Amino acid sequence: PIIAGNWKMNNTKAQTYALLNDLVPLVADAEAEVVICVPYTSIWAAGEAIKGTNIHLGAENVHWAEKGAFTGEISADMLLEQGVEYVIIGHSERRQYFGETDETVNKRVLTALAKGLKPIICVGETLEEREGGKVEEVLVRQTTEALKGVDKDQLDKIVIAYEPVWAIGTGKTATAQDANDTIAIIRNTIAKLYCPKCAEEKVRIQYGGSLNPKKAKELMSMPQIDGGLIGGASLKAEDQVQRLKSCKIKIKALRKGRFFICNSKLIIIKEDDLKNHLTDTASVYII
Ligand code: PGA
Repeated sequence: PIIAGNWKMNNTKAQTYALLNDLVPLVADAEAEVVICVPYTSIWAAGEAIKGTNIHLGAENVHWAEKGAFTGEISADMLLEQGVEYVIIGHSERRQYFGETDETVNKRVLTALAKGLKPIICVGETLEEREGGKVEEVLVRQTTEALKGVDKDQLDKIVIAYEPVWAIGTGKTATAQDANDTIAIIRNTIAKLYCPKCAEEKVRIQYGGSLNPKKAKELMSMPQIDGGLIGGASLKAEDQVQRLKSCKIKIKALRKGRFFICNSKLIIIKEDDLKNHLTDTASVYII
């Protein structure tokens, strides 16, 4: 399982140090893979803050060219030099606001893999597409196009994040059953492109989009869901106050670690111990 935070355009260098200084010791025993995808200007600071820890460093985009006249872009080598391991590609905000297409997603994916970066490829339908009954068509297309030219033996480097556009930053989380069934479409597409075993064992597929403590338990317990890509909730624990007495967050399967931010601190606890760690007033956030 893989739990990744997508900071988007948030956190200055100072804020990066502050957040990670708290986070690092608290995730030391995590069973799941923890990734933070940070803005370019925070990469160096984040890399320093997590050096020697179990937190993996990610960026939020990468260009396909080796180098050159691409103002505002960043190359794989530039990221690798800073210790970046993961890179988000094709986030719907890039597709919506910055002209990202299936074709450019694919180019970025191929370069990332060739360079040794692990892509977190975002796919997901808009509300209009969902209402028009096009979910399957869109996801099959996005997945197939993104993976064009990717070898079977590269699949274990790939993470796919299913993020319905209508769920991102809106507070409208997909239902667990719906997310599970939709992720099954993506897995089935990979099975057809490669092999069922590849789809089952090599590619991790996350759910993302308003993932919050209330919904996390159900979503993460679904068989198709291998983790989460979390935006807003990975930033400000204190803004996301949840009474925890009634909130039992479970991340499915023994291999999956349990992460909570409690009163701005990330803690990892066994579910059985949950009640001993929490007070009436605890603010809890799953990361
Ligand atoms: P959200 O964002 O958790 O704030 O909805 C998720 C994402 O965009 O990756």
